[in-house]
Amino acid sequence: MNENRKTPVVPREQMEEQLGICARVAAYWHSRGVTPVAYVETYGCQQNEADSERIRGLLSQCGYGFAQEAEGADVVVMNTCAIREHAEQRVFGNLGALTHTKRRHPGQKIFLCGCMAGQTVVTDRIKKSYPHVDGVFSTHHLWQFPEILWRVLTTGKRVFYVADEAGAVAEGLPVLRDDSLKAWVSIMYGCNNFCTYCIVPYVRGRERSREPEEILAECRELVASGYKDITLLGQNVNSYGKDLGRNMDFADLLEQIARIPGDFLIRFMTSHPRDAGPKLFDTMARNPKIAKQLHLPVQCGSDRVLKAMNRHYDRARYLELVRYAREKMPELVLTSDVIVGFPGETEAEFEETLSLISEVRFDALFTFIYSPRPGTPAAKLPDPVSREEKNRWFDRLCALQNGISEEKHRAYVGRRYRVLVDGTEGELLTARTEGGRLVRLAGDKALVGQFREVEITGSTTWSLTGVFVD
Ligand code: SAH
Ligand code: SF4
Ligand code: F3S
Repeated sequence: MNENRKTPVVPREQMEEQLGICARVAAYWHSRGVTPVAYVETYGCQQNEADSERIRGLLSQCGYGFAQEAEGADVVVMNTCAIREHAEQRVFGNLGALTHTKRRHPGQKIFLCGCMAGQTVVTDRIKKSYPHVDGVFSTHHLWQFPEILWRVLTTGKRVFYVADEAGAVAEGLPVLRDDSLKAWVSIMYGCNNFCTYCIVPYVRGRERSREPEEILAECRELVASGYKDITLLGQNVNSYGKDLGRNMDFADLLEQIARIPGDFLIRFMTSHPRDAGPKLFDTMARNPKIAKQLHLPVQCGSDRVLKAMNRHYDRARYLELVRYAREKMPELVLTSDVIVGFPGETEAEFEETLSLISEVRFDALFTFIYSPRPGTPAAKLPDPVSREEKNRWFDRLCALQNGISEEKHRAYVGRRYRVLVDGTEGELLTARTEGGRLVRLAGDKALVGQFREVEITGSTTWSLTGVFVD
């Protein structure tokens, strides 16, 4: 036990109690001679994907098998995202449609969790207008899912675990992973940054780090069971360890994971430019097991807008970070996020984003039109630019980046790379370069799971084609 840690951990007895409830749920079904099935639908980012793997792990312990659709399932879990309005609308639409699956299978129990469940406006709306939803729990309560499920099954009453708590770190949850080569490992939860447009700190609470021993044990186990590609997850991985009180930061953690014996790659996301720096980049450069891939969201290229977003860096600092990272890692694959049309952004300011994109030349970009999130400071700012205008800016941004992505990919042609063959697509194999670029190529399916040398023979904006050379 680390006596110095500043954020709570769920006590072991409480976790064991939850696992005990899983056994009770399994006995409940067994006594009825039924093998129940569950359907888990995941929206949003990798953090939610990772959470869904824990939800499936718990359901599996409760005796559930898994279905590919809600129709006929005994349990449906919607693990939701609140990052943009569109994400929420989709969930409400799909949730509405579940009234029909439930009518056809009245025993169906429907749960809503994830980031939307962290908002009072959402839970109030579910209480009032979606009576077919049996249980709602925020991300802080995920570890209590067995107890929530049990209460719903045995009382028939609706259950809401949405108290606005600080949140704790829960260790020892069972996990059912989607893939056998690539794995997510959450190293921390929550966010303290409060970028003015963003809902995440409100729905996922304050930053909490997992103890390094727990993370290392999970990574060792993954490598031992054949995983080749591990992505460390956190909203701002550079803040890792600040709450541990034990003189350990993210670069130190990376270094320790990279020392685990075996042939595998480590990636991470997301790194915030505010506290990324030389120590991180030097650590990456020094360790062959750390993929030379960096997702460093810039959001925009105007200093005024960056300040209004509360990002705590300016254009010059961002460019300096990129310069340093590329100096240390010339082969670095660099990607970013950009928001178009932050409230009050002018066309001239938007064009500063375009010029930054041209200057940096990212390998790929995730682009978003600003979406007001109720409760965030930016949602209260005047927003005079029309949606049509923002759409035009968005198209200009995409056109610029597509040209750059295409040129960047063309430069791969004729060169050799080590790739991880990670799956199949029809008759073809798919593989990923160390930088995470997708390569399609012909070959024996038995190669899936292996690192191999390929020569790149063709390219498009989005992907590469190649042939094996070894
Ligand atoms: N923690 C990560 C980002 C997580 S959200 C980071 O800080 O880099 C992923 C991306 O969604 C953000 O980088 C941002 O570009 C986008 N985003 C967040 N809130 C948004 C909003 N209200 N409207 C549009 N895009 C948003
Ligand atoms: Fe949101 Fe900013 Fe936190 Fe990222 S760092 S999750 S954008 S508040
Ligand atoms: Fe969405 Fe929550 Fe991720 S809001 S983007 S699922 S942290």
